[in-house]
Amino acid sequence: MSKFIITGGKKLSGEIPVNGAKNAALKIIPAALLFDEKITISNVPKIEDVTRLLEIVKDLGVEVKQKGNTVKIQAGDIKSGELSRDLVPKLRASNMLIGPLLLRVGEVVIPHAGGCAISRRPIDVWVNLFKQLGAEVEQGPKLYTFKARKMRGAKLVFPFISVTATEALMMTAVLLSGKTTIVNAAMEPEIPALADYLNECGAKIKGAGTSEIVIEGVKQLKARPFTVIPDRIEAGSFACLGAATRSRIKITHCNPNHLEVPLAILEQMGVNFVVGKDYIQIKEVSDLKATKIKTHEYPGFPTDLQSPFTTLLTQAKGDSLVHETIFEGRLFYTDILNQMGAEIIMCDPHRVIVQGPTKLYGTKVASPDIRAGIALIIAGLIAEGETEIDNIYQIDRGYEDIEGRLKKLGAGIKRLE
Ligand code: EPU
Repeated sequence: MSKFIITGGKKLSGEIPVNGAKNAALKIIPAALLFDEKITISNVPKIEDVTRLLEIVKDLGVEVKQKGNTVKIQAGDIKSGELSRDLVPKLRASNMLIGPLLLRVGEVVIPHAGGCAISRRPIDVWVNLFKQLGAEVEQGPKLYTFKARKMRGAKLVFPFISVTATEALMMTAVLLSGKTTIVNAAMEPEIPALADYLNECGAKIKGAGTSEIVIEGVKQLKARPFTVIPDRIEAGSFACLGAATRSRIKITHCNPNHLEVPLAILEQMGVNFVVGKDYIQIKEVSDLKATKIKTHEYPGFPTDLQSPFTTLLTQAKGDSLVHETIFEGRLFYTDILNQMGAEIIMCDPHRVIVQGPTKLYGTKVASPDIRAGIALIIAGLIAEGETEIDNIYQIDRGYEDIEGRLKKLGAGIKRLE
């Protein structure tokens, strides 16, 4: 198994470009199955989750060509709606295939799509909402079977906000007859990006990016090229990296408008930075101040940035409260930071108090999930001595060539195969 060996304590400098957003790429690939024409997708990050999803799609008989960061998908002929039992559980976004496959082949057999071990990751809400669109759903001990029967638009009231469920139902409703209204929709920037694209292709979606989305079904879509938007989570993680290592790094090819709340929190903490149209330049950081973080659906503080910020808070003076409201298992990695010298007290599964500043020391750790993984890389880069990170598949799932890109900034990181 591969691992990263990190030598901490080096100042970083230079520019780091942000890649296409994982959580946008993982939605446009399933959306490509809504078309029988070829669609070309640019700025696709070369990450394990994308590779797995493309393998799942190829397994259905869909033609996939990948060159660099461009992927061409032609779903002219889909041979079945039965999804790979080995690959689906590796990522949550496999569920995104349910809607397009129901529309194209009428029946989908799918095992439970797990993804990161940050909660049980149920799909109860998905099942209920697909039923409200007229799908029949059978749930066995290991598999769900979705059947299209007589699907048509409906009013869908989400009991709570779910990002992937909003995207899944929105992209399905586009090709159903009648009107679908999604009430209590997620508003993450990846959602209007997908809706704008589908509208360019002939869909009729209004309100994406707000809490109510209205979709008038159309008969078919006309394929157009798609460019994946910049990854706001990568950009925010690199901002924490710059602040934690007290380095003047410039984060380029990003959209700072998607990061207003995390940037406001960095400012409160005493991080100096300049924001341009598509960059964030981290400047001097002297004394970092403790703060409060409460994760929230967009435009609130993203749960996916909670772990890099918590690592940064170990370097801030005073007690910080981190309140993770979205996932019940997304703070357990803080125990690993404690093994490195942090002083983090878990109040309950949703809240920790970070007492800072503390010196971190290199040790042997393993990455429990994608975002905890990047937090451990940041911790390793500020720690004294050598940090060995195991289970880095969990980091490769979300970050393309992270060690190559960090090395260009002068970081002491290498991959051992
Ligand atoms: N939930 C249910 N039932 C459902 C669906 C969700 O109980 O049927 C619960 C979840 O367990 C969670 C909450 O609802 O407690 C919110 O989950 P949500 O459905 O919004 O999460 P998701 O759509 O599965 C996406 C991202 C996550 C990101 C969250 C929140 C993708 C592929 N995943 O997950 O990204 O953390 O939204 O913003 O888009 C990551 O990139 O590392 C990652 C985990």
